Amino acid sequence: MLELKDAHARKFQYLRLSITDVCNFKCQYCLPDGYMPDGRKSFLTVSEIAHLTRGFAAMGTTKVRLTGGEPSLRKDFTHIIETVANTSGIEKVAMTTNGYRMAKFASQWREAGLDAINVSVDSLDPRMFHQITGQNRFHEVMAGIDAALEAGFKQVKVNAVLMRGLNDNGLGQFLAWIKDNPIQLRFIELMQTGEMDELFARHHVRGSVIKEQLLQQGWQQKLRAHNDGPAEVFVHGDYCGEIGLIMPYAKDFCATCNRLRVSSLGKLHLCLFGDYGVDLRDLLSDASQITALQVRLQEALLDKKATHFLHQGHSGMTPHLASIGG
Ligand code: GTP
Ligand code: 5AD
Ligand code: SF4
Repeated sequence: MLELKDAHARKFQYLRLSITDVCNFKCQYCLPDGYMPDGRKSFLTVSEIAHLTRGFAAMGTTKVRLTGGEPSLRKDFTHIIETVANTSGIEKVAMTTNGYRMAKFASQWREAGLDAINVSVDSLDPRMFHQITGQNRFHEVMAGIDAALEAGFKQVKVNAVLMRGLNDNGLGQFLAWIKDNPIQLRFIELMQTGEMDELFARHHVRGSVIKEQLLQQGWQQKLRAHNDGPAEVFVHGDYCGEIGLIMPYAKDFCATCNRLRVSSLGKLHLCLFGDYGVDLRDLLSDASQITALQVRLQEALLDKKATHFLHQGHSGMTPHLASIGG
């Protein structure tokens, strides 16, 4: 079997597949001016997604996360979930969402085969939520999280991008929320993308600040399970929920990289930062191309770098994370 392995002895069983870069939010750290429509773009079709997923699964991929933009804005989203979930070898299908359509669709997605949802909630203060995301939708998103738990998703992960002067004093409020709720709340350190140097300088704050506060309050770091991603996870006997920290500027963050990305236009990205992508789309039109697809993937992986370039103070060619699904 051809395997997804790189020159640094890392294996990749986790595919993050972006299915659109359209988004209806305007997060300050991502698409502050909103999504700019580009009629020339055509996103991967369900049939292309099926061929792509089969190719990855045949090389050992077991988990696929559907990302965007906002993946649920695609009209055929439920069909995409079914297609990926029914691919032999795929054991887990997840999505990352802004939560906008979750209250309405969580149970439909669950029935289609979705196993896990990660949703962005940058602040529990509705006004701050609005300020950061450009959308006055806090209550709809929270109702979406309740709907997901009711629909049978056992744990929902919540992402908050940590921003100095905006939400970095919100730890207490988040902790009160997860005391009795099975939420894994992850603070993500702001990453510098091509279009937001100034915002980064103003708002970047290290996740280690939160880590120190947690340790002082009796939180303990969980041992990393085999094939876990780069989040450091903390637990506390008095809390039903957990805290995760995603600290891409920390030493050795990339050593546990277990994921590959494919953009909504069918390009393989070996990292969030620093590569233009390898086009796969010409190999997604029919099932007979599966071997050629696998060979291309294996060759491309030889170029995967040991780490990203964020420490060097530039973001390479990634204008914003919506372009490759975060
Ligand atoms: P699980 O599959 O539940 O472990 O979640 P995940 O962390 O893989 O997925 P999610 O989409 O919730 O990730 C949230 C955000 O964390 C992403 O949008 C990125 O901003 C950041 N992130 C995730 N993986 C990486 C990575 O490999 N490198 C960097 N630099 N950031 C990442
Ligand atoms: N820095 C950190 N995280 C980001 N995201 C988007 N842009 C950035 C950035 N510049 C993350 C948000 C959201 C996910 C889709 O991408 O956490 O949850
Ligand atoms: Fe949209 Fe997600 Fe980017 Fe926010 S972070 S603008 S919700 S793609």
